[in-house]
Formats: sequence, C-alpha cells, structure tokens
Amino acid sequence: MLLTCYEVRPETSDVTSFFFNSDQPVDFIPGQFLTLLVPIEARTSARAYSLSSIPSESHLQLTIKRVPGGRVSNHLLDALQPGDTLEAMAPAGEFHRDAAGEGAWLLLSAGCGITPVYSMLRERLQREPDADIVFVHSARSTADRLFPAELEALAAAHPNLKLHWVIGDEPNPEPFKGRLDAEQLKARVPDLADRTAMICGPAAYMDAVKAMLQAEGVAEDRIHNEAFVAPESATLKADSDEAGHQLSVDGIELPILPGQTVLDSLEKGGLPIFAACRTGVCGSCKCKGEKGKLESSSVLGLTPEEIEQGYFLACSSTVTADMTVELND
Ligand SMILES: Cc1cc2nc3c(=O)[nH]c(=O)nc-3n(C[C@H](O)[C@H](O)[C@H](O)COP(=O)(O)OP(=O)(O)OC[C@H]3O[C@@H](n4cnc5c(N)ncnc54)[C@H](O)[C@@H]3O)c2cc1C
Ligand code: FES
Repeated sequence: MLLTCYEVRPETSDVTSFFFNSDQPVDFIPGQFLTLLVPIEARTSARAYSLSSIPSESHLQLTIKRVPGGRVSNHLLDALQPGDTLEAMAPAGEFHRDAAGEGAWLLLSAGCGITPVYSMLRERLQREPDADIVFVHSARSTADRLFPAELEALAAAHPNLKLHWVIGDEPNPEPFKGRLDAEQLKARVPDLADRTAMICGPAAYMDAVKAMLQAEGVAEDRIHNEAFVAPESATLKADSDEAGHQLSVDGIELPILPGQTVLDSLEKGGLPIFAACRTGVCGSCKCKGEKGKLESSSVLGLTPEEIEQGYFLACSSTVTADMTVELND
C-alpha cells in the first residue's frame, strides 16, 4: 500500500509522530506494526513501526524515535515531509489487543515502546470506557514523556484507568521516582497477579519487568512483550576468539563472523533478502540452511517440519560452521 504523509508532529527532542493517509483500507489490531519500505540512496530498507493510531481513526500514526547512527529512523526524522509518499506492507505482529484478552490489563512501557500499548489502551477505552487498566510508563525525564496530555485526559475521563509515570532523572511529584522497581510496582498495583501484562521497551527494561512480575506470581501466559531491537544473543561478538565461517549462496561465498546474523552477512554481501522486523517476529527473512549448523534465538512462525528441514530466520540466527543458504523466493 502507498502511504501519504500529511503531518509531521515533534513529540519530544528525539521522537516525532508522522500522520499518513493510505491509498487503501488498512485493517489492523491495535498493537500491530506496519513495515515501511524506505528508499535511501540506492537501497530500500524495511523497518517495522507500531501503529500508535487506532482502527476507527481515518489516519495512520507512526511515532518514531531517532536511534543514534540508525539508517532509517534518522532519515525519516530528517527528511520525511507532508506530501511525501512511502510504500508499506500490511500490518502484522502478535503483540496486540487480542493477545491481551478482555480482562484487567497492566500496560508497561518505556520510551518509544509506548506506541503499541498506547493504541491498545485508546481502542479498549473507546470500546469499553470502564475497562480496568493500569498504565505505567517510564521516561528518561518529564520532557521525554510521550503523549502526556492525551494520557492525562484519558485518565481524567476514565476513573478505572490508573496512570503512573516513572521519571528517570528528575524529581517528580509522583511517588514513582528513578527506575521502576518491584516495591514501587507492588505498591501501585497490588492486584498484579490478576492482570494480563503487556510490556514494550528496551530489552533490559523488559527483562527486569518480566522478572518482577514472575516473582509476584503472574502466570507466564499472562505476560506478553514486544522487542524493537534484536536480542543480545544475535549481536556481533566483536572480541571473540572464535574463527568466522563462510556462507555459500547460489555459488557466492560470503564471510560470516562469530555472533553475526545470517541476515547481516547476506545484506553486507549485497544479496536480496527481505527483512521486515529484524527481531524474529514477522517471518519475512525465512531461508533454508543446514539444521545442525544454526543457532537461532527465534523460530517464530516456522513449523517443526520446516525447522527439521533446515528453515530458519536469518535475522535471528548465527552459524557454527560453513553453511549453504537458499534464499526464499
Ligand atoms: C515490531 C517492531 C515495532 C517497532 N515499532 C517502533 C516504533 O513504534 N517506533 C520506533 O521508533 N521504532 C520502532 N521499532 C524499531 C524500528 O523498526 C527500527 O529498528 C528503528 O527505527 C531503528 O532503525 P534504524 O534503521 O534507524 O537503525 P539501524 O540502522 O537498523 O540500527 C542501528 C543500530 O541501532 C540499534 N538499534 C536499532 N533500533 C534501536 C532502538 N529502538 N533502540 C536502540 N538501539 C537500536 C541496532 O541494533 C543497530 O546497532 C520497532 C521494531 C519492531 C521490530
Ligand atoms: S525479519 Fe522478521 S523474522 Fe526476520
């Protein structure tokens, strides 16, 4: 589909919301993401962005944070203007309203991780104004809070929505100061174990929050989270003593370093591979390799038969030996 940007709205010093019209109806579940295809110089890069709008709104809203050194986020924040168009793929993702269910919610987000839960929150309250929701958002500073006016207005209009800000580096009138910890969380949300938790933010934040919830007895199937960045295990081990390996793709030999993902090696070699989410959730980077030579941090969307046959997600896999790769057509 083709999106036309009609408004660019700075939210904080490094986060901007973009408002788009689409050339076709866009059906999505609050919490899902769109994949933008962004041409920069001679190359088109695909990146996933959660929709911060809700389905009943006529526009689509993406709220994007500048990542230092990042290819696409910086380009969008520096260059995308009203009137510009971008190709996008259909919404996807499993972190959404339906996964959260219809019971009491605990929404936890940090920084730009607010986008999917903000959409879920607004849609649920529109459908069910009395829904029982606790929303805890962590920001570096008061100025870095995202959608503060909108969230305060929602909390004022919906007494069953309890809103808590956790502010990192400023004294804050709210009882939450500094980093979120288990004591603060329990004090504010005494019925933690009765809620379904939806968590989105940096990996360290999500790990810490998940551990707090588990320690308080929240069942595994009531804790859902979404990562914007690939897991640690799939990043380059720059100081490793291990030797690298070779990938063989249609007769082309490519080097792959210890800890380097197959996706990274293929992209550096200029081979055509499509990767929408880059974090092992969308399945678009599926390739075929050799089962015993792979270490994968995600196999989401692959069937046991496919895994047995050597299919893997290039964004979430490293290799332990030289390997032949077949790209998915
Ligand atoms: C399901 C999903 C939903 C997403 N939703 C949003 C959203 O609503 N808003 C948003 O701003 N981003 C979102 N992202 C992240 C987005 O897809 C890009 O990864 C991000 O914009 C960085 O892309 P880049 O091209 O600028 O950086 P790249 O050039 O891809 O990466 C540069 C370096 O920065 C690291 N990096 C990438 N992303 C981050 C990050 N977020 N924080 C810290 N380091 C990072 C990379 O590991 C790499 O080392 C989402 C990602 C996923 C998978
Ligand atoms: S790019 Fe989405 S699973 Fe690999």
